[in-house]
Amino acid sequence: MPTAQVSDHEAWVRRATPPEGYVFAREEGRMDAGEYVDLLRTSGLPRPIDDLARIRSMLANSNLVITARDRAGRLVGASRCVTDFSWSCYLADLCVGPGIQGLGLGTALVAETKRTVGPQSTVLLLSVPRALQWYAKIGMDSVDNGFIILRNP
Ligand SMILES: CC(C)(COP(=O)(O)OP(=O)(O)OC[C@H]1O[C@@H](n2cnc3c(N)ncnc32)[C@H](O)[C@@H]1OP(=O)(O)O)[C@@H](O)C(=O)NCCC(=O)NCCS
Repeated sequence: MPTAQVSDHEAWVRRATPPEGYVFAREEGRMDAGEYVDLLRTSGLPRPIDDLARIRSMLANSNLVITARDRAGRLVGASRCVTDFSWSCYLADLCVGPGIQGLGLGTALVAETKRTVGPQSTVLLLSVPRALQWYAKIGMDSVDNGFIILRNP
């Protein structure tokens, strides 16, 4: 796994293959909110999982949702994004189920996101503290030119 920045689109495309036994699919507009909440809960990604209406809204207004499922069809990972497919892609949630972590699925989901939005689009995100080293490890660049207006809880 690279520790240096991976900036070439084709290099990400080459990594956009899920581990054996898992498949990727585009599921924006048809992801079940309850199923998604289960993945958020078990993966430990901090999101408002007790507010189903808000989760539904997050899903309904995301125009790129890439899922990873196992052979039984169970949801084991996801990349939820808002993108124009031409300039920028905000990767809002990235999560992999607890029993599946460490197999390369998270890296492949990021790569599949980049492959899907294409060479002309950035992929940018905000990391939870414990994943900061991971994003650097898989070859994403950190930025020092970002600004944010924080949400209310
Ligand atoms: C972060 C996450 C998406 C990574 O997905 P994953 O499928 O487990 O990651 P991969 O298998 O692609 O990468 C595993 C590699 O990263 C390393 N790694 C795992 N967690 C790490 C961390 N927090 N910091 C640095 N390296 C880490 C592993 O040791 C492994 O290294 P190796 O290939 O040299 O053995 C996943 O662990 C997850 O969903 N965590 C909970 C939710 C979360 O924090 N999401 C990120 C929100 S910003």
